[in-house]
Amino acid sequence: MASPENHGNYIDGAWCPSSSSKSFENRSPSDTSELIGTFADSEAADVDRAVAAAKRAYASWRLVPAPKRAEFLYAFAERLIARKEECARDMSREMGKVLKEARGDVQEAIDIALLMAGEGRRLYGVTTPSELPNKFQMAVRQPIGVAGFITPWNFPMAIPCWKSMPALIAGNTCVVKPATDTPLSVIRVAEIWHEVGLPKGVFNVVTGSGRNVGNPIVEHDDVSIISFTGSTETGRGINVAAAKSFKKVHLEMGGKNAIIVMDDADVELAADGAIWGAFGTAGQRCTASSRLIVHKKVVRKFTESLVARAKKLRIGDPLDESMDVGPVNSQSQVEKILDYIRIGKDEDRAKLECGGVRLMDGNLGKGFFIAPTIFGDVDRNMRIAREEIFGPVTDIIPIGSLEEAIDVANDTPYGLSGAIFTSDVNKAMVAMRDVYTGIFYVNSATIGAEVHLPFGGVKQTGNGHREAGVAGIELFTEWKSIYIDFSGTIQKAQIDEVKIEPA
Ligand code: UN1
Repeated sequence: MASPENHGNYIDGAWCPSSSSKSFENRSPSDTSELIGTFADSEAADVDRAVAAAKRAYASWRLVPAPKRAEFLYAFAERLIARKEECARDMSREMGKVLKEARGDVQEAIDIALLMAGEGRRLYGVTTPSELPNKFQMAVRQPIGVAGFITPWNFPMAIPCWKSMPALIAGNTCVVKPATDTPLSVIRVAEIWHEVGLPKGVFNVVTGSGRNVGNPIVEHDDVSIISFTGSTETGRGINVAAAKSFKKVHLEMGGKNAIIVMDDADVELAADGAIWGAFGTAGQRCTASSRLIVHKKVVRKFTESLVARAKKLRIGDPLDESMDVGPVNSQSQVEKILDYIRIGKDEDRAKLECGGVRLMDGNLGKGFFIAPTIFGDVDRNMRIAREEIFGPVTDIIPIGSLEEAIDVANDTPYGLSGAIFTSDVNKAMVAMRDVYTGIFYVNSATIGAEVHLPFGGVKQTGNGHREAGVAGIELFTEWKSIYIDFSGTIQKAQIDEVKIEPA
């Protein structure tokens, strides 16, 4: 195991302490006696330096031909492939997701780097004929400027890369504030940029709290776009603060994602899907399957299969390859999740089918482990069915028809992901059309998005943008429409009459 290091900020191509020289500790959620490292506890002055560096670098980075920018992204992907295991282990230690999922998180960062490197030779625009003779016109994509990223702890490397790779290929420069609980994964990203010789100032990292680092990034006049992933409450604050300077804002926030299980579904397959969707990453995904809307005819069989599987999950040290579920991320996560479990238990009707406790036996007591928890016979109006818990807790809500299932699925302020298990293609098509979310799965859980399709949601999950896939390019570019008149006269669109001469 690597010994704890002191990590500085990465600003203008160099590592440096925070301006106050203060630092903060990051400890492992699976054993709080294990120190992962110390990190720069930064403030507005550090953000100012990082933004100034990014602004200087923007002047030249935007002019580097995109296929040349792409070469840096290819080199990044190669280095990350070489360091994948090391980065995955660091991530398991600092965040708590089991090693095979941490490898997936790093892989997702590699995937988006390669996808966006390919965009270096596309970044397609539009050409279209003019209504006037001897005139050419096109719309091209232009970078926006300095991009500020506020990234979450649940996908500590994939999400910062979902944001930064499209931004960089399009010619923007970046300032990243990683989640306070998982700075190491973004530090590794900066190390790799340093190794591959990315020009200084193009990618900067400032660690610290939301208040002291996140807010100054959002409020900075020289930051032209903010991309944030996190809670709906924080997203709302960011949107309001950023409105003053009219900067572009991309928000990716909460979810209360539902799997519908119809009476014609393969119930065992649906139970496998629900286990993965609800308890993968200990339920700490925006896309977690936190509501299971199950047809009354199969609800008993489904519940039995699900509970049997949940009881077999191995919970423990995320670095142990045989584990299925690691700890939740922090003490505040433990408190919030246990609060919701208590709220669920207090409901007269809801039945606690399994879990519902913090695990304290042996080494588990050193970390933040919570038993996979299933509530049965939940009503759609209960708080556990409406509010995002962001932990290993899921609800079974019985329904009697597809219409009712869709109605319940849509009865939430969020709209990130949804799913249906059915063997009837007609039902699958109706659900695909009518469940109001940004992502939808047929015969699969609500998690598992791939990087080359847009990611994001409707209602209070987002603010109308998507990231990853082609949407990532849309997010980090602005259109410029260009008209080139080679008639030698001043032609007037909408006014001049074009005469068509006979041949
Ligand atoms: C999240 O849910 O917070 O779709 C991100 C997935 C992953 C990313 C999830 N590729 O499950």
